[in-house]
Amino acid sequence: MAENYDYDVLIIGAGPGGYVAAIRAAQLGLKTACVESRATLGGTCLNVGCIPSKALLHGSELFDEASNGHFATWGITATPTLDLGKMMAEKTKAVGELTGGIEFLFKKNKVTWLKGHAAFEDAHTVNVAGEKVTAKDIVIATGSSVTPLPGVTVDNAGKRIVDSTGALDLDEVPEHLVVIGGGVIGLELGSVWRRLGAKVTVVEFLDQLLPGMDGDVRKEAQKVFKKQGMAMMLGHKVTGASVAGKTVTLTIEKSAGGDAQTLEASHVLVAIGRRPNTDGLALDKAGLSTNARGQIEIDHDFRTSVPNIWGIGDVVPGPMLAHKAEDEGIAVAENIAGLTGIVNHDVIPSVVYTAPEIAGVGITEEQAKERGLNVKVGKFPMMANSRAKANRDTEGFVKVIADAETDRVLGVWIIASLAGSMIAEACVAMEFGATAEDIAYTCHAHPTHAEALKEAAMAVTGKPIHM
Ligand code: FAD
Ligand code: NAI
Repeated sequence: MAENYDYDVLIIGAGPGGYVAAIRAAQLGLKTACVESRATLGGTCLNVGCIPSKALLHGSELFDEASNGHFATWGITATPTLDLGKMMAEKTKAVGELTGGIEFLFKKNKVTWLKGHAAFEDAHTVNVAGEKVTAKDIVIATGSSVTPLPGVTVDNAGKRIVDSTGALDLDEVPEHLVVIGGGVIGLELGSVWRRLGAKVTVVEFLDQLLPGMDGDVRKEAQKVFKKQGMAMMLGHKVTGASVAGKTVTLTIEKSAGGDAQTLEASHVLVAIGRRPNTDGLALDKAGLSTNARGQIEIDHDFRTSVPNIWGIGDVVPGPMLAHKAEDEGIAVAENIAGLTGIVNHDVIPSVVYTAPEIAGVGITEEQAKERGLNVKVGKFPMMANSRAKANRDTEGFVKVIADAETDRVLGVWIIASLAGSMIAEACVAMEFGATAEDIAYTCHAHPTHAEALKEAAMAVTGKPIHM
């Protein structure tokens, strides 16, 4: 135990990065405290992110399946009615169970929860609700919040122009929801409200949805969402918004500039990205600053420029994903305890939980070209996968990108009903340095969606069986 400090480790923020770091540090025998200003633990992910969005995606998908003809395909007649209050209550229950679960784990592992906002006084001292707390090592895990859009003021309480937090808590199904930003949040929450009956229009600055994902997957996603009835205004930007009663009037122009047009909506969701949370932390008092993107820079071991201060999760560079934050939480605690904590940032999967799901890990075909890599690509359509065919959910494909000389798998991209679960196999394979042939010669249970990954790996050498 640190002799001159209140704690061995103090973690600021109890999101997936911070709470996991706290639990691991305590498991390793360090006297640990975690500061959280929110009324419940779990951060963005458990309170207003991953968990409530997935709960509503699940509930809305059940409603959609009953209403859109999927039930009828199987001879099941149903005329569903929606009790939105009940759906929201079920979401709230899931959130409460999970945030309460973290509180239980803190108690079980003897992690002290310091309630309040933390601000640095020096590199070893933090002020929490007027009290000075000292620690030998401090981990910044303060996460991120919504990037504001100039001219479009979010008012979650007013429930007309909302961010993701407001869109998870509407008390009526929008007549016309305009989503600004065709990224992950826009497509997930746009899908929720479309399934429940809203007309949805996505306004996206770029010419394609889902920046950062593989080009083939982006093209397919656009087709799929259009077919589901989402209207798309690609290559457009919103320049202003005004609210009058129940109507929001947006001014929109082409991204490259041009004549403005107006678009009326009953509700608007602003989802143009997130930015790191460092306001009010008094980083300068600890000798720290942020980079041009507002992030706290760290080295390979998650250490900042001040040796006893560390950073993890959304507040540091890298994808803003819960599982990335969690893995960094484990690694940073292990490094602080004198062990070797490592995260392989080349193998961080990303999943969009729409229907079908969209998932990827590693590099895209475009990145391979940019880097001058010589690659082979194998693709296999879900249409030729027997389980997808049996389930009547044949949209999408699996794409494997492998090094042309060594056959080592460099990236896997999937659009399929179960893509989010299927991508885990690709992660394990890549973590072990597998070749496409390794996946192709691994026995996969039949009939499963996972066989499509095996066949895409076979397709890398041009020899899938079922195509
Ligand atoms: P956070 O979860 O943001 O937690 C940081 C915590 O620190 C917060 O609770 C905050 O209150 C607290 N805090 C900040 N400053 C201080 C301070 N000075 N003092 C005290 N406390 C402070 N990711 C996925 O991987 N899968 C998903 O399905 C997914 N869905 C999402 C859906 C939505 C709608 C949103 C918004 C995000 C989603 N994400 C998802 C992203 C995911 O939520 C984040 O990547 C993840 O929460 C980051 O974890 P973190 O620990 O870095 O920060
Ligand atoms: P995003 O970065 O995924 O998408 C934002 C989109 O908005 C981009 O397509 C961008 O081109 C567009 N855009 C930017 N400015 C614009 C403008 N002025 N007008 C129109 N379009 C504009 O960000 P998003 O969806 O807000 O999500 C934030 C973060 O949360 C992401 O980094 C993501 O990793 C995380 N997240 C992860 C989820 C998951 O893993 N399933 C779910 C939800 C969020």
